[in-house]
Amino acid sequence: MSGEKWIIGTGFSRGIGYELAKKIKDNKYKIVHLGRGQCGFEDIFIWWDLLNPISDSPILELSKQLYGKSIVGFIYGAGVMPILGVSESNRMEKHLFWQSQSEAMRVNYFSCAEIVEDILPFIMSHNDGDIKDVPFVAHLSSLSAVDPFPGLELYGATKAACLLYFQWLSKRFAMDELTCLSIHPGTVHTDMVNNVVNSSSKDLEIVRIYKNMIEKKELMSPQASAETIYKFLFSEQAKKENAHGKLYLADKGEVYQHSK
Ligand SMILES: NC(=O)c1ccc[n+]([C@@H]2O[C@H](COP(=O)([O-])OP(=O)(O)OC[C@H]3O[C@@H](n4cnc5c(N)ncnc54)[C@H](OP(=O)(O)O)[C@@H]3O)[C@@H](O)[C@H]2O)c1
Repeated sequence: MSGEKWIIGTGFSRGIGYELAKKIKDNKYKIVHLGRGQCGFEDIFIWWDLLNPISDSPILELSKQLYGKSIVGFIYGAGVMPILGVSESNRMEKHLFWQSQSEAMRVNYFSCAEIVEDILPFIMSHNDGDIKDVPFVAHLSSLSAVDPFPGLELYGATKAACLLYFQWLSKRFAMDELTCLSIHPGTVHTDMVNNVVNSSSKDLEIVRIYKNMIEKKELMSPQASAETIYKFLFSEQAKKENAHGKLYLADKGEVYQHSK
């Protein structure tokens, strides 16, 4: 074996994922990036539109690329925010609204679960003596998966679906076999938040909140967010084990607890 350690990831072209890929590269890991646009930090880029089901995606090419590699982990960093709010009377608007919910479910949940299922055999066969650490699968989740904020309920539903899938994974694999992680990054100043502010109705509470946070400079930077996520994934073993199958709040450094 070459001693190379590989990370597979999506969502590395922009936002939090881009900064995370930069950190991963700086720390000498090799990267397989699945996406629609390169970030410049990948060693292997496979063009992949996560709106497509896996049957229409280059899974065979990915399998060929993964063969024989020591894989440390998989990070599903991609995500989309669907249209927030819809006019009750305009049929065309309603149609676009529900189409956008369906696409968000595909990107935020189905594609993640499908890719994880297909690459699990490669991740689980990593233990060839080169890598001592327990491999991980992680996705960027959201607090809205467990605590739906007004306006973000349907986005939250897509994140809740993926969170539940990761909970199921954590029952299939013990934490010392495969650590299964759902990570809320915090509220981070990226295109996703800017798009909500610029393209949604000004009457929505979430738009007012984001605008206010931007004005008061209260949003995390993508760099700061990636820093905390990287630290958690690559050097905080005890915290990772504790977060197996749960929602980890990276901005607070703790696992989400349901309020009684
Ligand atoms: N920002 C926040 O405050 C916040 C809070 C909670 C959770 N999150 C979650 O954190 C993750 C990253 O968010 P972000 O704020 O960094 O978002 P972002 O800046 O909008 O970046 C989204 C990433 O997802 C990729 N992506 C979206 N649709 C795709 C598709 N069909 N095929 C391939 N890639 C696709 C984008 O690639 P393209 O360049 O190809 O579009 C981009 O790399 C998301 O899952 C988001 O839900 C963010």
